[in-house]
Amino acid sequence: MAQQYASKQPQGYSNYLKTVAIVGVGGQVGKHIVENILKNGKQNVIALTRADSKSAAPAGVEVRKIDYDNQQTIVDALQGVEALIITMAVTAPPEQQTKLIDAAAAASVPWVLPNEYGAASNNEQLGKDTMLGPKAQGYRTHIEELGESSWIGVACSFWYEYSLAVSPEAYGFDFAKKEVTFFGEGTAKINTSTWPQTGRAVANLLALKVLPEDEHDKAPTLTGFKNRFIHVSSFLVSQRDMLDSVLRVTGGKEGDWKITHEDCEERYKSGVEMLQSGNRMGFVRLLYTRVFYPNGDGNYEDKIGLDNEVLGLPKEDLDEWTKVATDMAADRSWSQLG
Ligand SMILES: NC(=O)c1ccc[n+]([C@@H]2O[C@H](COP(=O)([O-])OP(=O)(O)OC[C@H]3O[C@@H](n4cnc5c(N)ncnc54)[C@H](OP(=O)(O)O)[C@@H]3O)[C@@H](O)[C@H]2O)c1
Repeated sequence: MAQQYASKQPQGYSNYLKTVAIVGVGGQVGKHIVENILKNGKQNVIALTRADSKSAAPAGVEVRKIDYDNQQTIVDALQGVEALIITMAVTAPPEQQTKLIDAAAAASVPWVLPNEYGAASNNEQLGKDTMLGPKAQGYRTHIEELGESSWIGVACSFWYEYSLAVSPEAYGFDFAKKEVTFFGEGTAKINTSTWPQTGRAVANLLALKVLPEDEHDKAPTLTGFKNRFIHVSSFLVSQRDMLDSVLRVTGGKEGDWKITHEDCEERYKSGVEMLQSGNRMGFVRLLYTRVFYPNGDGNYEDKIGLDNEVLGLPKEDLDEWTKVATDMAADRSWSQLG
């Protein structure tokens, strides 16, 4: 399709999104997205939430109840919405995302941000090995085939404070026992993003103008990301870097910690076996281990580049967020993994 320009649109055309909807208003990443959209102050926010949801929406957010067993409720809730942001629990039935995508098409929602929030977009083998790629691709293809909405994926990699604190199966740290398992040498660097950085990325993306004003306008636009990923990151760090940061933040010594090394491939295989024997933590193990392979698959900022600047994202301080993680590890009330 030929490039479109805002200056050539009919009178009354708005080049900025005014109404966005989110699934997961009170979710782990969803609440940060909503907070930042409200902070930007450019859009009305609608929360699509289940009738029996315990999620609370902040002031200024309109709540619309939906029933995943009644498709019309979702279509009705999406009337007038220009972007649907899906942040849905990994435990939610997978067909729920298909229902949201179908409803977005039925309600002519132009933009859908599917439930991604993971690794780099361009690595088919990584996607297969982590068991997430083919499914995620399926949803994107479905959006394209319906032909009503465009998608934009958010690649933020693992959430830093969350992954450091949540379980030794994630970034390898057991704070209670002062033990860390390094995958291989522990020196492979991966991209990782804090929850607030991910929230800002989505909010600032949706605040971009939709189309360039005219052929001279080179400013970033939403249309420039149509059916593509944004790649954002807070830090490019290894497990070794994380341990150094933990030591700085806690004032501890390396000798206080028990450091174990595990071969990456062996650990990945043990994760697959755990999963096959019905232990869902095996998925967490295989996922995190695979991204830390020493081939650099977890480092997309060098291979693809980041959109941090285009999206106006600030530089963050590693130790500040390591401190957040050590506090989170001490009080686990937030953790869905127990
Ligand atoms: N990068 C990372 O480190 C990382 C880590 C974990 C997850 N993720 C990704 O981020 C996405 C969002 O994860 P999250 O942790 O932010 O989600 P979450 O907090 O676990 O859940 C978000 C929302 O999902 C909604 N939901 C709909 N159906 C549900 C069901 N059957 N059971 C439970 N909740 C349901 C709930 O909203 P209502 O109650 O309002 O209906 C809930 O608040 C995930 O799907 C995954 O792709 C990334």
